[in-house]
Amino acid sequence: MRIYEVGPRDGLQNEAALLPTDKKVELILALADAGLEKVEVTSFVSPRWIPPLADAPELCARLPKREHTTYSALVPNQKGLENLLKTDLRECAIFISASETHNRKNINRGIDEAAELFESVVAAALEAGLRVRAYLSMVWGCPWEGDVPVDRVVELTRRLLGMGCYEVSLGDTVGYGTPAQTLHILRHLFEAGIEPGRLAMHMHDTRGAAMANCLAGLEAGITTFDAAVGGLGGCPYARGASGNLATEDLVYLLHGMGVATGIDLEKLIDAAELAQALVGRPLPGRYFQARLAERRG
Ligand code: HMG
Ligand code: MG
Repeated sequence: MRIYEVGPRDGLQNEAALLPTDKKVELILALADAGLEKVEVTSFVSPRWIPPLADAPELCARLPKREHTTYSALVPNQKGLENLLKTDLRECAIFISASETHNRKNINRGIDEAAELFESVVAAALEAGLRVRAYLSMVWGCPWEGDVPVDRVVELTRRLLGMGCYEVSLGDTVGYGTPAQTLHILRHLFEAGIEPGRLAMHMHDTRGAAMANCLAGLEAGITTFDAAVGGLGGCPYARGASGNLATEDLVYLLHGMGVATGIDLEKLIDAAELAQALVGRPLPGRYFQARLAERRG
């Protein structure tokens, strides 16, 4: 079972203020020290589009290595990859949407044009020795286009894996999914010959169903789940997107099922406390808030 922590990227990309780089580094180290093996730390996107992550180069330069933790960052194009390659990061992630409208709003390109562009970005990243992950957004539906055809999801997932991405993280960007729908989508992907080990689930908790969807995915054979410390997160180019499933809630549930994660839940609560102090407002994570109240007596 693998948890892919996206809070420092997916969470902090939504913050209005540019938060201090040193504090972000502190948060990332707290997550690594809690035992998270994968942490998405930032994005090498246009600082004009995502001002809160404009400090990506500086952040990566200041980030101490942790042996058991791999850091990754988003890249939207060759320029982002070139900038990432100036750092010590050994992994990157590309991102495309299954919704044409969302893709245009998010990266200013149609799906086909973006997919073509990513072919060369992924090839260059692999050539440079990086591992490449891919995100596919709006898999469970889109606020502008409504239902997203599952055949398009299958086709794009195949295409992303065909480029050489090691895994496709299926995004429920605005939290529409229900467990029955999750099983339906996964069944189509499996029937198309895509193995569960090549997929991850990236569920936003906008409608409170992220955990139920992950449980459905777990039962279907998915073993990698994205989550954000304290439930930080959203997508600035997707109306209505709220935070990701909270990492502590997922870890608590998995430990309760006897599933080992290698994560120290108490240290994760310390990290969530840092995240909460950093953004300056209560975070939505349920386990986090309950444990914090217990700690404060
Ligand atoms: P564009 O305006 O079409 O870019 O944006 P362009 O290629 O025309 O270039 C315009 C200017 O941007 C140029 O500068 C470029 O150099 C610069 P100028 O010559 O005008 O001074 N530029 C860059 N600068 C720094 N880094 C770069 C870069 N690229 C161009 N990489 C672009 C296209 C893709 C750049 C823009 O749309 C962008 O950065 N979008 C990022 C949006 C984003 O980060 N969204 C959130 C992440 S996705 C998400 O949250 C969903 C996910 O969580 C999964 C889920 O929940 O479903 C992953
Ligand atoms: Mg997201």
